[in-house]
Amino acid sequence: MAPVYQKIPTHDQGRPPSTSVDEEPNDQYYPTRLTDENRAEQVSNNRTLTKRRLRRIHFIFIGLFTAFYMAFFIARGYLNPHAVSSGTRIKCHETMHRLGLAGHMHYHGTHRNMSIGAVGGRLPTHYTLPSGDKIPSVALGVWRADKGEVGEAVKTALQIGYRHIDGAWIYGNEAEVGKAIKDSGVPRKDIWLTSKLWNTFHAPQDVESALDESLAKLGTDYLDLYLIHWPVAFKNNGKKNDVDTDLTENTYPTWQKLEEMVEKGKVRNIGLSNFNVRRIKNLTANPLKVKPAVNQVELSYWNPQSDLLQWAKDNELLLEAYSPLGSQEKVKESLIIPEVKAIAKELGITPAQVYISWHVQRGTIVLPKSVHPIRIEENFRVTLLPDDAFQHIEKIAASHEPLRTVNPKWGVDIWN
Ligand SMILES: NC(=O)c1ccc[n+]([C@@H]2O[C@H](COP(=O)([O-])OP(=O)(O)OC[C@H]3O[C@@H](n4cnc5c(N)ncnc54)[C@H](OP(=O)(O)O)[C@@H]3O)[C@@H](O)[C@H]2O)c1
Repeated sequence: MAPVYQKIPTHDQGRPPSTSVDEEPNDQYYPTRLTDENRAEQVSNNRTLTKRRLRRIHFIFIGLFTAFYMAFFIARGYLNPHAVSSGTRIKCHETMHRLGLAGHMHYHGTHRNMSIGAVGGRLPTHYTLPSGDKIPSVALGVWRADKGEVGEAVKTALQIGYRHIDGAWIYGNEAEVGKAIKDSGVPRKDIWLTSKLWNTFHAPQDVESALDESLAKLGTDYLDLYLIHWPVAFKNNGKKNDVDTDLTENTYPTWQKLEEMVEKGKVRNIGLSNFNVRRIKNLTANPLKVKPAVNQVELSYWNPQSDLLQWAKDNELLLEAYSPLGSQEKVKESLIIPEVKAIAKELGITPAQVYISWHVQRGTIVLPKSVHPIRIEENFRVTLLPDDAFQHIEKIAASHEPLRTVNPKWGVDIWN
């Protein structure tokens, strides 16, 4: 009698419709008695089933792997994150910020990305200068901080945690700034102190005495940074603002004297202020012993100077943003720009903090001035902005005619 058996079903034969190929085969589908031949067939069919299962697991694994990487790249901003609403993006960014991923976001838009990004989801607290010195990214500016109030402002700032004061001989308040530094109890070595050489003292024979006067008033024997305040030299002849054309067009003799001050240890770093690219190149075409450490220029919503910033980045010259809130002439207006207010609201910070953070995120030092403790504190708290918020400020700042709030009229075309 022929053995009684049923053919082992394949996935499309004799299987109840509800049963998947991966399910264990039901006994009733097996032969009751197996010959060697159909036992071999069963083994072969079992192998086929195992292979199918493995292949399925393989596909599931590849699927999961791909999904994980897609999510990872979206989180890192390599894929377009602009498909969701702005609010969602900001919240999503905040989460990524906490995860330490946000700092790596990059904007894939039509205009240049001015964001330096950030390391570990944070804005830099310091930048490293060519000398190797580390300069704090946020400073207290003391221009138009009057006598009788500037000292308190400096002490408040130092208590809050500022370690960078941006002053100048021409501000006329160095003695009070120096006294406040002493009274604060913060060691001099922990404070970054900047002053600036005024236009009247560009002649090499006048540089050291001008510096000595600042040092004496500030009560210190060295400056961390000494800048040529303007690319404009006045003759030191008692006449008001009498421009020295030769020394204005050629800064090298002044610079050489400043290099000597570095050699003498009276200043640790030297730099420029209000220099455009042509004037910087004029100077750096000379065989400099010390590279300019920074160029301090007006940078604000009103005058973002993106080209200068890009050039400075390309040439590894750090910019310092003065009048970062638009100076006293434009600060009120700056703080009510609707887009900036909206970003501030979304992030739970103030419009002033949006601007100050934007500057640091652009890769510049920022020098907000205030004499009010509450504002001094406010201005010190910088936050990494979501990339789209950062780009939006970049865009709106570039969408109007640039406007300088600081533009002295000395009969020299400073900006050419
Ligand atoms: N190298 C140069 O040629 C040059 C030129 C200009 C400036 N700078 C430097 O840059 C620093 C800053 O520039 P700046 O003083 O022109 O302008 P700024 O810092 O943009 O603005 C200062 C003005 O904003 C107000 N302010 C500050 N924080 C505020 C806040 N959180 N909310 C509302 N108002 C606020 C200040 O008032 P209160 O003080 O009353 O709070 C002041 O009227 C100067 O102090 C100086 O160190 C250098």
